[in-house]
Amino acid sequence: MINPQEFIKQHVRTVPDWPQAGIQFRDITPLLQDPQVFRVLIDIFLERYASANLQYVAGLDARGFILGSVIAYELNLGFIPIRKKGKLPFHTIAEEYDLEYGNATVELHTDACKAGDRVLLVDDLIATGGTMIAGKKLLERLGATVVEAAVIVDLPELGGSQLIRDAGLEVFKVCD
Ligand code: PRP
Ligand code: ADE
Repeated sequence: MINPQEFIKQHVRTVPDWPQAGIQFRDITPLLQDPQVFRVLIDIFLERYASANLQYVAGLDARGFILGSVIAYELNLGFIPIRKKGKLPFHTIAEEYDLEYGNATVELHTDACKAGDRVLLVDDLIATGGTMIAGKKLLERLGATVVEAAVIVDLPELGGSQLIRDAGLEVFKVCD
């Protein structure tokens, strides 16, 4: 019997040269499309974080919303969206960062969480690590404790997960 991590990895599709030449894009849509695979994936996160004493799951725009909201719902926790610039309507704080294919700014509502809250930070993938580190900085500016950075896919050759660990945040990945 194949292990769950290998099962998940087999359902992540690599699309060459997208969105630009030289990028090997890891596409999680085949994984989401199959209810059995999606459930195996979510159950990996539920098992890991069921006893983590969390208050919130924070998801990074946009693919982190897909995973993060399901994990939050199943663990009976609140969900915090960390959104790309210009999407959140209330008072916000912002962090800029670089990506494998450009740069971006993410924002967080100032009342999204409070000092002492324990938050799990979720996304689909770590490449250069810029997105995760920006999310961590935003949550910490509100005084929250970011418990772990959780993803489906890590691309370790791009160095992002090491940068995140060097910034003091543990990384949990399902596959690479
Ligand atoms: C992708 C991915 C992560 C981020 C990882 O999102 O979903 O959020 O890049 O890259 P990094 O580790 O180099 O920061 P993208 O910004 O492309 O947005 P999307 O989810 O809206 O497609
Ligand atoms: N975000 C940044 N780099 C990526 C990649 N190679 N595949 C999917 N999403 C990404």
